[in-house]
Amino acid sequence: MNNAAVAPVRIGLAGLGTVGSGLVAVLEKNADWIEARLGRSVAVKTVLVRDLAKPRAVTLGPEVLVTTDADALVTDPDIDIVVELMGGIDAAFGLIAKALNAGKHVVTANKALLAKRGPELFALAAEKGLGLYYEASCAGAVPIVETLRSSLAGNRVQSIIGILNGTANYILSSMSEKGLPFADALAKAQELGYAEADPTLDIQGFDAAHKLIVLIRLAYGCNLPLEKLPVEGITVVTPEDIRFAREFGYAIKLIGQVRDCDGKLAAGVWPMLVHEDFLLASVRGAFNAVRVEGNASGPIMLHGKGAGDLPTASAVVADILALARDGMIPNNTGFRTEPLPEAELVASDDFVTPHYIHFTVKDQAGVMAAISKSMGEHGVSIRQAVQKGEPEDGYVSIVFLTHEAPNRAIDAVLADTGAMPFIKPGTVHFRVL
Ligand code: NAP
Ligand code: HSE
Repeated sequence: MNNAAVAPVRIGLAGLGTVGSGLVAVLEKNADWIEARLGRSVAVKTVLVRDLAKPRAVTLGPEVLVTTDADALVTDPDIDIVVELMGGIDAAFGLIAKALNAGKHVVTANKALLAKRGPELFALAAEKGLGLYYEASCAGAVPIVETLRSSLAGNRVQSIIGILNGTANYILSSMSEKGLPFADALAKAQELGYAEADPTLDIQGFDAAHKLIVLIRLAYGCNLPLEKLPVEGITVVTPEDIRFAREFGYAIKLIGQVRDCDGKLAAGVWPMLVHEDFLLASVRGAFNAVRVEGNASGPIMLHGKGAGDLPTASAVVADILALARDGMIPNNTGFRTEPLPEAELVASDDFVTPHYIHFTVKDQAGVMAAISKSMGEHGVSIRQAVQKGEPEDGYVSIVFLTHEAPNRAIDAVLADTGAMPFIKPGTVHFRVL
């Protein structure tokens, strides 16, 4: 076939940071394959940045306009698809809304925006009959968005359990395997381009929460407001707890999960103990993994690079190709109703899991008995209880692993033990997957 006369798909690219540069690099590196698949080439026409003088990781051709004027992307009739890779909420929302209003398909990697203002943007895209695609917003190169939207569309999804943040997983792996201090591991993740511009989103669990909200929308056809999702980050994880967990046969991982409980959803993001026999326990570095259980498919596990320039760009290119294919009817959320209803949640107090509790206590008679008594009174059954290490300033660590118990029972135990004079403040509690 001679494609010489076929116009390229023209991209207006907002953002030339880690992912934007990765996109330019992948479009160049794989140009022949992309053209073979699409029957057209893909060309970046205009690039929006904040700082025109900043050095860039990629070289753009002289034909590419680099600008600080966001309107240049949406008013140009030659631009077919606007690709938003700048992050943040307000400017990104404004750009995407303008692009859709101007009749352009949009690709974005911005999970924070999709979690917070996705319903408005999906409604607008549906009204305009345009595509708003976001494979890169969840788990980097891992094709979980398309998997939920299309490949598993014939299922009722029973659960999704994922390691959804590369930075957090990189930090926990580096602390566990190399004994790196938390701050050094975070600095390295930032240097490698894994972290968000505001890395507190990664370490406080909110980036994983944003992704979980996007996945819940795809799997269950409903919107979950961020403020209703229980979220805990990894700043509470210490080398000591990583070591204790390992001695019990567990890794500590930041897990985002949702389960269908008779139509209501039980969902949250927490650092959790994951038994070393589970595949998720062996996901290392900036890799992500998502386990989806469909009621027809059974369990499926996807694993791959969750962050970084080329892996994330791989997902962006997939969306560009999907939108550029002739005759495509955009399938944004995978559901026909717009706006989608709000998710109904199981109260997080009712969440039932096993638990890990690490007390630092005075090394004296009766302590173990007092804690065990409180657990018994609140119906928490102990699976293992171990005193760890040598006394330091008269205090020792005692670690409990419990059988399954609702979180409200553990909160009641922690309230009791918090008032016991022989227990140091700062008891550590993690759920066990
Ligand atoms: P980044 O390295 O900080 O790059 C952001 C780019 O956007 C920069 O080029 C910046 O311009 C430009 N920009 C930001 N705000 C702008 C504004 N108001 N007007 C014009 N240009 C603006 O970010 P990134 O890591 O590539 O991430 C981009 C998006 O992808 C975010 O939504 C992020 O959550 C998402 N994401 C990132 C990864 C990853 O591994 N990094 C993976 C998946 C998804 P200047 O360079 O001139 O400052
Ligand atoms: N900061 C994100 C992470 C980028 O570390 O997973 C990928 O979404």
